[in-house]
Amino acid sequence: MLYEKGIEAMAELLRVENLCKNQILDHVSFTMESGEMVAVMGPSGSGKSTLLYNVAGMDCPSEGKVWLKGQEIAGLSEDEKADLRLNRMGFVFQQMNMMSNLNILDNILLPAVQLNKIMKRNRKSKAELTNEALKLMEKLSIPNLADRSITQVSGGQLQRACICRSMMNRPEILFADEPTGALNKSAAAGVMEEFVKLNREGTTILLVTHDSKVASRCNRILYLLDGSICGELKLDRMEDGMERKREEKVNRWLMDMGW
Ligand SMILES: Nc1ncnc2c1ncn2[C@@H]1O[C@H](COP(=O)(O)OP(=O)(O)OP(=O)(O)O)[C@@H](O)[C@H]1O
Ligand SMILES: [Mg+2]
Repeated sequence: MLYEKGIEAMAELLRVENLCKNQILDHVSFTMESGEMVAVMGPSGSGKSTLLYNVAGMDCPSEGKVWLKGQEIAGLSEDEKADLRLNRMGFVFQQMNMMSNLNILDNILLPAVQLNKIMKRNRKSKAELTNEALKLMEKLSIPNLADRSITQVSGGQLQRACICRSMMNRPEILFADEPTGALNKSAAAGVMEEFVKLNREGTTILLVTHDSKVASRCNRILYLLDGSICGELKLDRMEDGMERKREEKVNRWLMDMGW
């Protein structure tokens, strides 16, 4: 996780300053360093999804600024923003937004194929992309599902496929809104395990969750209430076997927050 990445881990990747969105977000500020995995928690309607979409440039804030690696997102042209979303950011959602007319492999390939079309240089062949997608599928423990339709896999498998899709363009940061929200307990634990793995390998992750078990796998938790960050919990470096202890700590903190 964070501290295993050396010098790069100290670099600021994301800066959010005084973000407002209509009456929903009220001057939200925070930063993330490269290699962090941060959870946003808070009651339903507190603005978590709105925060994620405004930080990720999928929605326009009414006030405030967001920088990715020192580059202000609002200053970018529409084309540059599209490139940013396609090339440097990955997204995973609770409603998985898979295309029903494509099989699992083609769904995973979709963003990479799109990116390839607009790339002027360093284009990859379909065979190269397919090879990368199959490797990712193996890593995410769904090696044999390439030809299945999206109705022929379980919820947990489909969410793993969504994570593969989000990782195809090797994003600098992965945004996830309730990625385990539609899954049962064991599927949620399995999917969260994959996020932890990706984070350990260097992907920075900002995720929204209602699940304290999921949040306790992160290295920091922000608590959003009525559109403002009203609490922050930093967790120690995660040792294997410490999950229960971390979860207890998170649950105590959430009770203090009025969860
Ligand atoms: N497009 C929109 N236009 C107007 N109001 C919106 C819009 N999207 C969300 N809201 C409102 O903004 C508030 C925050 O919504 P948001 O979806 O960000 O909450 P949330 O914390 O993600 O909730 P949940 O945990 O239920 O997903 C809610 O009161 C919601 O009704
Ligand atoms: Mg939400």
